[in-house]
Amino acid sequence: MTQPSPSTSGFSRKKNFDPATVVDFVSHSASQTRSTGVVLGKLAQPGDIILLAGELGAGKTTLTKGIAEGLDIKGIVNSPTFTLVNEYRGRIPLYHMDCYRLENGRDALDFGVEEYLYGDGLTVIEWAERIEDVLPKETLTVRLTTLNETKRGIRLEPIGERYITFVARFKEEAFGIYKS
Ligand SMILES: Nc1ncnc2c1ncn2[C@@H]1O[C@H](COP(=O)(O)OP(=O)(O)OP(=O)(O)O)[C@@H](O)[C@H]1O
Ligand SMILES: [Mg+2]
Repeated sequence: MTQPSPSTSGFSRKKNFDPATVVDFVSHSASQTRSTGVVLGKLAQPGDIILLAGELGAGKTTLTKGIAEGLDIKGIVNSPTFTLVNEYRGRIPLYHMDCYRLENGRDALDFGVEEYLYGDGLTVIEWAERIEDVLPKETLTVRLTTLNETKRGIRLEPIGERYITFVARFKEEAFGIYKS
């Protein structure tokens, strides 16, 4: 008999991760979440896709502001809620997408999501669960969980070798003091 997979905050991408590939920690402030983003931005490669999971106010946009900083983007990064996607020029392009208003993947295809996903920049997607069906299998999910007013759980869930390496590099950069 097959075991049902554990359900998580409505994001079906979740599967059983090898604990050795997942990194999780607590951010104690918005600025720590932003700094987490800076490290992710510094490590990002052209074509990378980062999905941000987490409820309203969890810190998805805050993290993205850090990612932009890590990519040496000078302009102000705001939530693209009304524009669907904002593009920024940095070390590599940043495509910041917010799918909150989309129904499903079909809507995303209609607006040309594939051009970004398979482009030469870093694509960061808030509310990616809305368009789960058109996303490539291999991605990095950053899951933000609100613990209290100022604390957030942050969990990096890589799928595929590319993102497993990404997370391993993140761990080294952010927590290099914890050598085994
Ligand atoms: N540890 C923390 N990490 C991130 N944000 C925090 C933290 N503590 C407090 N905050 C606050 O929580 C809010 C997070 O807002 P943000 O816009 O980043 O969330 P969001 O996940 O993008 O929400 P939405 O789903 O509405 O787009 C900000 O006001 C931020 O200052
Ligand atoms: Mg947001």
